[in-house]
Amino acid sequence: MTGTRTQSPSRPETAGPVVGRPVDRLDGTPKTTGAARYSAEYPYPGIAYAALVHATIARGRITGIDTASASAVAGVLTVITHENAPAMKPPPKVSMLNLSSLASGTSVNYLNTDQVHWNGQPVAVVVAETLDAAREAAGLVRVGYEELPATVDFAAEEPNAKPQKSNAIQSGGAKKGDAQAALAAAPVSVDLRFTTPPHHHNAIEPHATTAAWDGDRLTVHEGTQNIPWVRRHLALRFDVPEKAVRVISPYVGGAFGGKTMVWPGTILTVLAARVTGRPVRMMLTREGVYRTVGGRTPSTQRMALGADADGRLTALIHTSVTQVGRVGGGPEQVTSQSRHLYDAANILVQQNQVELDMLSNTVMRAPGESIGTFALESAVDELAAELGLDPIELRMRNEPARNPIDGKRFAHRMLRESYALGAELFGWADRTPRPRSMRDGRWLVGMGVASAYHPSWQLPANVTVRLSADGTVVVRCGFHEMGMGAATAQAQIAADALGVPFEAVRVEYGDSTLPSGPGAGGSAQTASVANSLIAACEKLKRSVLALARKSGDSPLRGQRPRDVEARNGGLYRIGRPEGHDPRKGESYPTILSRAGRSEVEAAVGSDTRLGELTGQLRFMSKFMLDRRRWVKAACGAQFCEVRVDADTGEIRVSRWVGVFDVGRVINAKTASSQLRGGVVMGIGMALSEETLVDPRTGRIMNPGLAEYHVPVHADIPPIDVRYLDDPDPTMPLGLIGVGEVGITGVAGAIANAVHHATGKRVRDLPITLDKLL
Ligand code: MOS
Repeated sequence: MTGTRTQSPSRPETAGPVVGRPVDRLDGTPKTTGAARYSAEYPYPGIAYAALVHATIARGRITGIDTASASAVAGVLTVITHENAPAMKPPPKVSMLNLSSLASGTSVNYLNTDQVHWNGQPVAVVVAETLDAAREAAGLVRVGYEELPATVDFAAEEPNAKPQKSNAIQSGGAKKGDAQAALAAAPVSVDLRFTTPPHHHNAIEPHATTAAWDGDRLTVHEGTQNIPWVRRHLALRFDVPEKAVRVISPYVGGAFGGKTMVWPGTILTVLAARVTGRPVRMMLTREGVYRTVGGRTPSTQRMALGADADGRLTALIHTSVTQVGRVGGGPEQVTSQSRHLYDAANILVQQNQVELDMLSNTVMRAPGESIGTFALESAVDELAAELGLDPIELRMRNEPARNPIDGKRFAHRMLRESYALGAELFGWADRTPRPRSMRDGRWLVGMGVASAYHPSWQLPANVTVRLSADGTVVVRCGFHEMGMGAATAQAQIAADALGVPFEAVRVEYGDSTLPSGPGAGGSAQTASVANSLIAACEKLKRSVLALARKSGDSPLRGQRPRDVEARNGGLYRIGRPEGHDPRKGESYPTILSRAGRSEVEAAVGSDTRLGELTGQLRFMSKFMLDRRRWVKAACGAQFCEVRVDADTGEIRVSRWVGVFDVGRVINAKTASSQLRGGVVMGIGMALSEETLVDPRTGRIMNPGLAEYHVPVHADIPPIDVRYLDDPDPTMPLGLIGVGEVGITGVAGAIANAVHHATGKRVRDLPITLDKLL
């Protein structure tokens, strides 16, 4: 993808641990050969196709809908509007006590109301025999509106921002000392304003749903990051028991946060299937995704830093304004990293927001930290220039021993080591500090650095592990595979935990009939599943040992669990690496067949409602306790080189080195790919990505890849990704989490490199060439 290639065996060697090896993704071959089936590809006899009609005003009321010409299109089965749609239950009230209530993309009961809340809201659904007929007819629906004044201009609304309220996950603000006074008194300081535009996820697979009712039983194929949320939300909205809803999602063609919540297309496909009594499929157009799936909020940020003459920070102020929709959306945690990265004596962070008549914002690609690190890391670079200090040296002088805001311990923090390795690999010593001092022909060359930071999370996960008499293992958990190699990583973990070859493990995922998995978000899925998987494998080993230790024929007779380990496809006494020596232990097939068992299974977690609630409570209390004790996060150092055309201002990123502290790495190949992908997303954010909203109408003006520019191969240099592979002692298997940290710091590193190349500071993303001329 990126010019660097990892050479690796397609299969792991058979001896020794599998964890850490660059094993090929199990989902790789089905995806590249076309065998993988995505949500829009499941064949159903008699399937019908649905298309959305979007509101063209930001706020108001529908006064009339003319569906005559649409209904007259050959093949149209029905046009569903608020005038004829069956009633659905309203979305649940969002509450932190009921996490699945967060699944509602918006608070609107689509087609059950004549009210319009955002420009693009679905106001009708056309269902037809073919996709073409549905889309053609959707274009013929005429909607009349009574328009009401709408607030859609973020820039104009910014002065009216109100402080974000705290919730269970984060606080709206934090304070240490008197940062304002310290800033005023600081001999060296910067006080800067940064802006970032709205962004959209643009997963390669646009959102699609296939829905089929069988009486009151519902089957939904949906590319999602949260199967349990989709299931619970649909059950609630359509007033059927949760167990009557099956959500199938084995392949997700990218998501980046966009497939976390339940958006209108999903709900209206299920509604259309109910109305027509047919299986129905809806594939959103790219424009349809922009209009009905939330993106990232825009932001403005004040970033002020004060330091003494030696470059020790005396003041750090980070305040932000972001947007939410009046119909939903979450507070953006823009200042998250500013609470943890620098040992400033006085700190003030405060997040504010405005409410607009726009579609809810949602989580996207390291929400908060990706745009927050842009401001923080740009400002640190500016302060270094004011001080005449090397920007890495300034960071090292302010590297905290404990969490700056409250003195908590870091569970793991190797930022110094990341910078040291990165500087060496990148050749930072070759950089001449003066801006515009490095040149290669017509190209102005610049080098920049920035810190990466992303918090580490965990969620509850139910897992079962089954060992068969032939020595094969099946791991079952309803987690999500969005292309990050989730199933491969869990197979590696199970193989080592049970001492069986990687090839002996099969992992079932992506289906609500499996034990309930965690959402794939916050870079938390691998650690969350691993936590339960390790526990389940431990339980399984004990059950297998229990079969052996009672048998007079077994060399394991009378052995205690702590004296026995899993290796070489069986259980053997610890400290005797002979493995197959029959006097020291025996293979799983031997144990199971002697006991007359075809399989042994162990489960962690419970899928009954009560079991789930108690499990969640237990998990949350342990989690909160853990949070009181530790600050847990991934961090890293981003190094970039840019080349800026001296005449045209064209910016090319020409080299990249990223060194990351992500704890233990399960799969060297997939971890590198994820971090590399993160850097690519950061390059997009820095240089080209920007959703344009008409400030008069609240309508997105560039809803497609032709005008919203994501990086292509030609934009991306070789990306050298390294990780320190040092386990976090407080996390399951030492995992911290890999995905999103790669995005953070990227835009800051690029902005700093652009300044080094040109002498110009660009504080408003994206850094397009017009801003350099
Ligand atoms: Mo993410 S923004 O946790 O998919």
